[in-house]
Amino acid sequence: MADCVLVYLLFVCGVFQTGAAAVIQTQQTVMAAVGEDAELSCQLLETKDVLQVTWQKSSNDVETNVATYNKYFGQRVNDGFTDKVKFKHAGLWNCSIVIRNVTEQDEGCYRCLFNTYPEGAFIGRPCLQVYELHEPVVDVRESNSTEEWVVSCSATGRPAPTITLSVSQQDLNFSQYNTVNVSNTNATFTVTTTAVLSGSLKQSTQVGCAARVLSAPHREVMVTVPEVQQVYAAATADYNVSFWIIASGVAVGQIVFACVATFIAVLLKKKTRRGTLRTTNKIPQKSANDIID
Ligand SMILES: *[C@@H]1O[C@H](CO)[C@@H](O)[C@H](O)[C@H]1NC(C)=O
Ligand SMILES: *[C@@H]1O[C@H](CO)[C@@H](O)[C@H](O)[C@H]1NC(C)=O
Ligand SMILES: *[C@@H]1O[C@H](CO)[C@@H](O)[C@H](O)[C@H]1NC(C)=O
Ligand SMILES: *[C@@H]1O[C@H](CO)[C@@H](O)[C@H](O)[C@H]1NC(C)=O
Ligand SMILES: *[C@@H]1O[C@H](CO)[C@@H](O)[C@H](O)[C@H]1NC(C)=O
Ligand SMILES: *[C@@H]1O[C@H](CO)[C@@H](O)[C@H](O)[C@H]1NC(C)=O
Repeated sequence: MADCVLVYLLFVCGVFQTGAAAVIQTQQTVMAAVGEDAELSCQLLETKDVLQVTWQKSSNDVETNVATYNKYFGQRVNDGFTDKVKFKHAGLWNCSIVIRNVTEQDEGCYRCLFNTYPEGAFIGRPCLQVYELHEPVVDVRESNSTEEWVVSCSATGRPAPTITLSVSQQDLNFSQYNTVNVSNTNATFTVTTTAVLSGSLKQSTQVGCAARVLSAPHREVMVTVPEVQQVYAAATADYNVSFWIIASGVAVGQIVFACVATFIAVLLKKKTRRGTLRTTNKIPQKSANDIID
């Protein structure tokens, strides 16, 4: 009962804080892409009499309670976080939460407090870094001069991504690098790197473009150079498709027409010949008749 009252007081009044962190194992920085779920976990490494675990979000030195777990009241996610946070593993010595569908607003440092009696709170401080990285877009064009291609790769992310071009064929080199960095309204950056690839191209040479932000997994796109040209051609010739359909329709029509026409012509010719024959047959008859008449 005394425990219960104490826990209730903790619940209502918050916690005492000793600030000890050494006995807590937690992640220093958790990285998550926009839209992903992020898990923050804390583990108390020493055996203590833990009454409650409290999760807080720190921003500008203000701590907001996010969620609590204790034996008596179980798991509780505070108002304003109910759609955002859930417990992954609720335990008094090992406690983790999941921040769902992370956005830029979820970025920052969090605190896990193991509230013990009589020592007070042991605090862990995992931080969440939210990044954004879209798949890079690569374009390879033939340049004016022979044995030269203009490769350009563009990637959008937050913070600004770095772009690395590569080529599978060793005797080909990139030169004349040029990078443009555009800042978008939603705090992302679109970085475009253009370079000239020169040398004599073998078949199925691949050009790669890797985009990176922070230490998050990079995103890489590989394109086979001749394929790219086809794709490029296909993309720019989209409007031609209907033209080709119409054109081929016309062609088929013409062929059908030509066939039918030839057939008819042949038929007519035959008929005419037969007719002619008949006529010629008839004529003598007719003429014969005529003669008879
Ligand atoms: C603590 O929880 C993590 C997952 O959140 C789990 O991998 C680990 O095994 C747990 N450790 C203990 C001692 O229960
Ligand atoms: C994730 O959050 C974004 C922005 O808050 C929202 O538009 C989207 O619907 C959410 N997705 C899911 C699966 O909840
Ligand atoms: C390629 O040719 C066009 C005109 O035909 C010219 O405007 C452009 O500067 C040339 N580009 C290079 C890289 O030489
Ligand atoms: C792009 O610009 C931003 C802000 O000016 C900067 O932080 C970033 O380092 C730049 N990135 C590149 C690749 O130039
Ligand atoms: C931010 O803007 C870029 C470019 O306008 C867009 O590609 C990206 O999807 C946007 N990100 C979000 C989370 O809306
Ligand atoms: C590319 O670089 C390699 C070594 O750096 C060099 O041997 C080769 O001649 C270069 N090729 C071209 C086409 O410049």
